[in-house]
Amino acid sequence: MFSFNTPFKFVLKHLGAALLYAYAWSAFAQAQQLGVSTDAALAQYRSMLQDANPADLYVAKGQALWTKARGPKAQSLESCDLGLGPGVVKGAWVQMPRYFNDTRRVQDLESRLVTCMEAIQGFNTQEIIAQDFSKGERANIALLAAYVSSESQGMTFKVPQEHALEREMYASGQELFYMRGGTHDFSCASCHTQDGRRIRLQDLPNLSTSAGAGFAFGTWPAYRVSMGSIWTMQQRLADCFRQQRFPKPKYVSPATVALSVFMGVNASGQVADAPGLKR
Ligand code: HEC
Repeated sequence: MFSFNTPFKFVLKHLGAALLYAYAWSAFAQAQQLGVSTDAALAQYRSMLQDANPADLYVAKGQALWTKARGPKAQSLESCDLGLGPGVVKGAWVQMPRYFNDTRRVQDLESRLVTCMEAIQGFNTQEIIAQDFSKGERANIALLAAYVSSESQGMTFKVPQEHALEREMYASGQELFYMRGGTHDFSCASCHTQDGRRIRLQDLPNLSTSAGAGFAFGTWPAYRVSMGSIWTMQQRLADCFRQQRFPKPKYVSPATVALSVFMGVNASGQVADAPGLKR
């Protein structure tokens, strides 16, 4: 099992990932020269990377965090209700975002973690929202998200649409997805509604289809080789708002959750494979 006393191992693992990345890249370039189709070469490149997904390490750290007494109240998150009852982690993520009775809101994984961190551990929600990604408790949320999502690996998405607010959030998410604006008049749909598109090595999934949404929604949080760190879906969305030339969305704001409801429901029936590995 992973131990916190082994930062050296952590460094080694990252170094390994970087070397593998370089090796896989040269194999990719070679395959292309030999006339192998780009898509086939890319698939091979990705499967080589998959063998050493550093996200596994974040899962172990996230699990340790989940069970550790922390915060002003010195409590662990083991009584946190992710929708399937207090403490149930297995299978919870493939049914999120969902409506929660206690907050009377539809919440994605990250906003729900923030709720539990405040209610159970005594952390301050506003402080967490004001933080940058990868810093302080926001960095811890990425670890927790890696752990929670990993406990749904191989399961099928069934993001609920029973509660009226869940359906309302889907409709809002859909509207936001197609809403054009900003200096370039982009919507999410401008970049994410065609099949077989990619920018550099990253597929641009068609988020309006089940397969595309499953691939995109079902693999975040993900370890980003180019960033050397794990990114959550909230961070992914914030970066796409930037690409869209939209103002930075507020962390765990209703707009970001609505977009996740839209993608999550579209992903119904697809298999979860998070935490993923991305360029
Ligand atoms: C200007 C084009 C553009 C716009 C507009 C855009 N995206 Fe993206 N999106 C990208 C690119 C490029 C990537 C891959 C990023 C990378 O690898 O760095 C991406 C990646 C993603 C992913 C992860 C896909 C995967 O394969 O894992 C999701 C989810 C996503 N975008 C959602 C959205 C949503 C929701 C919106 C609207 C708020 C949006 N995007 C707007 C270009 C865009």
